[in-house]
Amino acid sequence: MTNADLFEAAQRVIPGGVNSPVRAFGSVGSAPYFVARAEGPYVFDVEGRRYLDFVQSYGAIILGHAHPAVTEAVAAAAADGTSYGAPTQREVRLAELIAEAAPGVEQVRLVSSGTEATMTAVRLARGHTGRPRIVKFAGCYHGHADALLAAGGSGVATLGLSGSDGVPPNAVADTVVAPYNEVPELDDQVAAVIVEPVAANMGVVPPVPGFLQGLRAACDEAGALLIFDEVITGFRLGRGGAAERFGMTPDIACFGKVIGGGLPIGALGARTEIMQTLAPTGPVYQAGTLSGNPLATAAGLAVLEQLTPEFYIDLEATVTATAAQLDTMLAEAGYEATMIQEGTLLGLYMGQPPGDDATWRPKNYDDARTTDEQAYARLHAQALAKGMAFAPGAYEAIFVSTTRKEYMEELSLRL
Ligand SMILES: Cc1ncc(COP(=O)(O)O)c(C=O)c1O
Repeated sequence: MTNADLFEAAQRVIPGGVNSPVRAFGSVGSAPYFVARAEGPYVFDVEGRRYLDFVQSYGAIILGHAHPAVTEAVAAAAADGTSYGAPTQREVRLAELIAEAAPGVEQVRLVSSGTEATMTAVRLARGHTGRPRIVKFAGCYHGHADALLAAGGSGVATLGLSGSDGVPPNAVADTVVAPYNEVPELDDQVAAVIVEPVAANMGVVPPVPGFLQGLRAACDEAGALLIFDEVITGFRLGRGGAAERFGMTPDIACFGKVIGGGLPIGALGARTEIMQTLAPTGPVYQAGTLSGNPLATAAGLAVLEQLTPEFYIDLEATVTATAAQLDTMLAEAGYEATMIQEGTLLGLYMGQPPGDDATWRPKNYDDARTTDEQAYARLHAQALAKGMAFAPGAYEAIFVSTTRKEYMEELSLRL
């Protein structure tokens, strides 16, 4: 089977041939490779081609693909059964580790995706405060729950603009969209402000100094809860995620990706008083047949065990070196490109910075959208032909997820 054969077959039985839209390669104008297996920094397609993988399951993989600690833990867990619908010891341990690491988190509820985590966080915030309104930021992605799909116009805060067909205006009537990196005014109708503490779905856009602190103060003043969506940043920027990096304490934190080592998982955590609002101790309903799944928790525990302070020092050094190599590679190939690094997170802005200002960095969605999508599509195709897989979308982060030596050696590749 070739990639083309499989894509044709896939499109007959799966809408667009994929189970998550970006994978269709539509925005880079080509067609996907189908992965047969992956190892360390590489994925291998069904035609036997090898790619240095900068996707890393969109940040779910931090130890490199098929890390033996993870695959062995999953195999061992599977031998004991794949799901019970009853509590297990591993769930307790994973919740303890998240609570130990994440500022402000005393209790944790495990769910099966990042979307479920943020959706539940919003319901919890509304239930806990008795208020209806949610403030989110343009360009921040929090999964595909109706109330959070509002992207809205940026620049001016907009009320109730749906981000997808099938999301009725009512579903987003209480979602306010504000520009990233500006502290919005909050009133006594606001239940929560939800934010990616480092935005990583419009390229990488770090918070400007004072933004997160300003949100904290505005929430405290208005009696609203501050939700950090750490689905990407959690356990990637460090064990304590963005909250720890910026010295912040959110009221609710959402996790996913890294904490499941590539298996479906999500989590939300908060102080006990808030978490007790969830069923069965409180009136806010939330449930899941596969929540706290034995394989996902086994994988998550195996990953978290490796995430020592030294691991993050190594990973950041690898990311810094990767950024430098990519910068050179892109310049040599004639691309105008700016690498944007925040610790272990890396983003790419394509094109000439506005006003020819070399120090310019995007601060919000309007800025981020000035990236040259066509140049990105050209780069994507050219890199793929040379055995490097960037994400098939100009707004995705570049994930570097292993400290293996081979990774750095591969980076002497040229376009
Ligand atoms: C910041 C953020 N929140 C939430 C989600 C949704 O997570 P999931 O795709 O696991 O539902 C994503 C997914 O990319 C994300 O980047």
